[in-house]
Amino acid sequence: MKLLVALLAVATSVAAACDRGATADDRRAPHGRHDARDARDDDQQAAFDRERRPDLVVATIDLHPGDVVADVGAGTGLLTIHIARAVTPGGKVVATDVDSGVLDLLAARMHDAGLDGVVERRVVPSDDPSLEAGTYDVILLAQVDHFFEDRVAWLRTALPALKPGGKLVITNRMHHRAPAMDAAEQAGLHLVRESTDVPGSFVAVFQLAAPTPPAKDSP
Ligand SMILES: C[S@@+](CC[C@H](N)C(=O)[O-])C[C@H]1O[C@@H](n2cnc3c(N)ncnc32)[C@H](O)[C@@H]1O
Repeated sequence: MKLLVALLAVATSVAAACDRGATADDRRAPHGRHDARDARDDDQQAAFDRERRPDLVVATIDLHPGDVVADVGAGTGLLTIHIARAVTPGGKVVATDVDSGVLDLLAARMHDAGLDGVVERRVVPSDDPSLEAGTYDVILLAQVDHFFEDRVAWLRTALPALKPGGKLVITNRMHHRAPAMDAAEQAGLHLVRESTDVPGSFVAVFQLAAPTPPAKDSP
C-alpha cells in the first residue's frame, strides 16, 4: 500500500513537471502520461517511437559511438535510451532534470536496457544547466526549452560546457520554434542544420558562431 502511494506521488509530480508551460498539444504526447507503471511499458516506448521518431532525431544530430551528450530535461528517458544506444560503445549521456522522480524512472529504464554504465542522472536547478565546462559533444534540449524562464540566459550559461566544435540541439513542437530560434541567435549560436521530417516538430542543430578573424593589416 505504501509503495502504491509512493508511486502515485511520483506519477503526479512527473505529470505536473511535464505540464508546466505545456499547451494542450504538448499534453497529448504519449510520454506526457508519465506514470510509474507505464514507464516500463513496451507499448509506451513503441507509441513514443512512432510519434517522436527518435531514429530521425539521432540521424539529424549525427551522433556517433564515443560522443558525450547532455540530455537536458530527460524526463523518464524515452528518448534518452536511443541517445545512449547511439553513443555506445565508448560514449556517455548525462541525463538532467529538475524532477528527481522522473530520473528514478529513467534509471530503471536504463537498468532494464543494460545501459547503467552509459547514462548518469543529475538533478539540476531550473536556471542552472550544471554541466562541466568543455565536456560535451552535444547538448540536447528535447521538448524542454519552453520551460526555461529565460531561454537566452539558460543557453549562455550552458554553452561553455560544449567541446570546441560541439553542437547544441533544440527539438520541440513546431509552435515553440520561433522563440527557440530567436533565443539561439541571441545566445550567439548559428544554425547548421534543421529537419522537419518528424510531423509537427523541428530538430535544429546549432554551433557557436566562429569568432570573426582579425582584419589583415593593410599594406
Ligand atoms: C515534456 S518533458 C520532455 C522529456 C524528454 N526530453 C522528451 O523529449 O521526451 C520536459 C522535462 O523537462 C524537465 N524540465 C523542466 N524544466 C527544466 C529545466 N529548467 N532544466 C531541466 N529539466 C527541466 C521536466 O521536469 C520534464 O521532465
